[in-house]
Amino acid sequence: MGTLYDYFFNSGPFLKARKKIFEDVDIKANSQILFVGVGTGADLRFIMGKDISVTAIDLSPEMLGRAKNQYYSPNVTFMEMDAQNLTFSPESFDMVIANLILSVVPDPNQCFQEMIRVTRTGGRILIFDKFAPPSRELPVMKKILRPVVALMGTDIGRHFEQIIMPYEKQIRVEEDASALFNGMYRKIIVRKHQT
Ligand SMILES: C[S@@+](CC[C@H](N)C(=O)[O-])C[C@H]1O[C@@H](n2cnc3c(N)ncnc32)[C@H](O)[C@@H]1O
Repeated sequence: MGTLYDYFFNSGPFLKARKKIFEDVDIKANSQILFVGVGTGADLRFIMGKDISVTAIDLSPEMLGRAKNQYYSPNVTFMEMDAQNLTFSPESFDMVIANLILSVVPDPNQCFQEMIRVTRTGGRILIFDKFAPPSRELPVMKKILRPVVALMGTDIGRHFEQIIMPYEKQIRVEEDASALFNGMYRKIIVRKHQT
């Protein structure tokens, strides 16, 4: 499963998009970083060697095992955990990284709420994921494909704007740009501010 996953989502255009996202994002020394749904750990390579402390969670022991094998480091703690029910105290992390997770979890609103809760005031949430086009109905072809793609464990019909709507007073979207395939995959940076 992990090998096939890496073949599709951690090579070619995906790898290029991920690399660019991490090149462009500024991560300060001594930051506490949380990777939510770290998977096989593909993005860990981009932050290795930085003077930061990383916690990486995933629900799947198999995915975590692969991530641990490939990206073991004394700065990285791997934990089996549900992204919709994080066991961390509020305001624990300077940055939460949520790549290809909001389109996967059963309840993206609950997952996003948890990510905001554990982000420090002034901290950021970095997202690389596929969402439905903003302020538009899903195109017909995607409506047809949605249930088929869902069988593979991911949803191509979620609107990011709807996911964040309940938290608009707590956050500001600082960046929202196409990362891949004409905006199907987006890079989004959200800042948590004082309410
Ligand atoms: C599409 S993969 C993305 C992995 C990685 N973030 C990446 O960008 O390659 C989704 C990951 O989310 C994990 N996952 C699914 N549901 C989860 C949940 N409720 N809590 C935590 N992780 C979950 C899966 O095990 C899988 O590793």
